[in-house]
Amino acid sequence: SELEKFVDEVPDMPRLLGYQLLHGIPKPKSLNIGMFQKNWKFHRDLPPTPVFAYGVDQHTATVPGPTIEALHGVDTYVTWQNYLPSKHILPWDPTIPIARPRSKKGVPTVVHLHGGIIEPQSDGNPNAWFTNGFNETGPTWTKKAYHYLNSQQPGNLYYHDHTLGLTRVNVLAGLFGTYIIRDPPIEDPLGLPHGDVFDRPLMIFDLNFYSNGSLYMNSTGNHPTVHPQWQPFYHAKFITVNGKIWPRMTVRRRKYRFRIINSSNDRFFRFFFTNGLDFTHVASDTAYIEEPVITKEVLVGPSEITDIIVDFSQSKTDTVILANNAPSHFPFGDPVDEDDSRVIKFFIQPDPEADTSCIPEKLIKYPNADLSHVSQTRYVAMMGYGGTKKGNPTHLYLNGKPFEFPVTETPQEGSTELWYVINLTKANHPFHIHLGLLKVLNQTELVNFDELNDLWRTDSDVAERHVEEYARGKKLEVPAHEKGWKVMYKMAPKSMTKIVVKFGYIHTNASYEFDATAEPGYVYHCHMLNHEDNEMMRPLKLIKGSV
Ligand code: C2O
Ligand code: CU
Repeated sequence: SELEKFVDEVPDMPRLLGYQLLHGIPKPKSLNIGMFQKNWKFHRDLPPTPVFAYGVDQHTATVPGPTIEALHGVDTYVTWQNYLPSKHILPWDPTIPIARPRSKKGVPTVVHLHGGIIEPQSDGNPNAWFTNGFNETGPTWTKKAYHYLNSQQPGNLYYHDHTLGLTRVNVLAGLFGTYIIRDPPIEDPLGLPHGDVFDRPLMIFDLNFYSNGSLYMNSTGNHPTVHPQWQPFYHAKFITVNGKIWPRMTVRRRKYRFRIINSSNDRFFRFFFTNGLDFTHVASDTAYIEEPVITKEVLVGPSEITDIIVDFSQSKTDTVILANNAPSHFPFGDPVDEDDSRVIKFFIQPDPEADTSCIPEKLIKYPNADLSHVSQTRYVAMMGYGGTKKGNPTHLYLNGKPFEFPVTETPQEGSTELWYVINLTKANHPFHIHLGLLKVLNQTELVNFDELNDLWRTDSDVAERHVEEYARGKKLEVPAHEKGWKVMYKMAPKSMTKIVVKFGYIHTNASYEFDATAEPGYVYHCHMLNHEDNEMMRPLKLIKGSV
């Protein structure tokens, strides 16, 4: 059944302050945020959909969850509470490594703040899960109230579920939301569009539905004898923005700031405006870039955050559509259906006031990656296993190791490392590292790919020593707006990407105000949720050091 496009207005999710003002002075705040099963209207003409939603209470819970507004330097404590029923609303797969309550009752959940520089005990380790009422907890669970210091650079983060083997279904059910860290003394002078009306988070997510309105997730796997339910990809037809399918947005003829978060399981978006309007980039993921970059399109991978200014006063038309032309199985796969590639339709109305916001020539400059202080070089090979040569693997690994194997990546606190990410598959994998910020040095296609692929599977030490000889193919351009500090990067198929990773702050040389070496440590992984769940994820454990 076809759903009419552009009938629901894009909602602004409820905003929760992560601080309180006492006599005008910001002080720490403790929040209680629950996870509830409820019904959510994704479209005027679609019956209500059972979802899992974050919120202060069941009545006000939303998909995505409330936008948390934190202040740089002011602590936010969040007690994430699980009020979910004993059974999941989506099919899952018991044959992959998975959080397992002994009672077999309850939906395990744990919350990660993506892009956060956070103590390990509050980072949402996949094994730190808990069920309703903290009835049962996972092996690395330590505490109820998570501590977010907010001592990092201002920018965009997002919170989402991170439970072992259940991330893809918990997120698909609705467990994700925006978290913004603001630093007014630094940001206000920039003069960018601000305030709830002109500065809008947009969480974009693809979903499929049954005609009765309930969420669709496949209940059979590609290799049902190995994994009865798991599949390597999830592509869905309906594009949702802040929990509405193909919505509309009424805007004024002036500048807006959109913080766009791609919270899809594995869909890439290449956004463009149908009338040629520009994107002016001011930040990427969690950090501002040094100066604005103007583009006509922007490729946003799963978990990637793009922070743009759109100036509707430059529009030659009174309506314009934000559209997507990335194939659903990026970068190959079928081209998107023209009709389904529409994301939001903007209706531009005259602006009764003068627009006093501006786009400054300079934004925020952070110290560059310090290559003279690289303390360690590491190689991360992405490989699929099982299935046929055509792809369609039964599971994926990083460096040939499952998640539960002992930790091999142990950077020193505050250190800078050089990582070579070698993608030995035909898909583009969004690569994300907890705690660290990364800068891309270059990305190069691999030559004699099959030979290197075989070599890596037989002797990875030899492969590492010789990988430079294979990295002689086409240089893939790093777009100007992605040259700053990021928390993920899109690893192109059959390519090698060199990144510098900083396991500390980029805006100061100060050390953490917490013990980053504490248990249970961190993780790094592919952010396609089906891959992360099976098992393209590895532990990351910081060690003491003097840097
Ligand atoms: Cu956005 Cu490990 O996650
Ligand atoms: Cu992947």
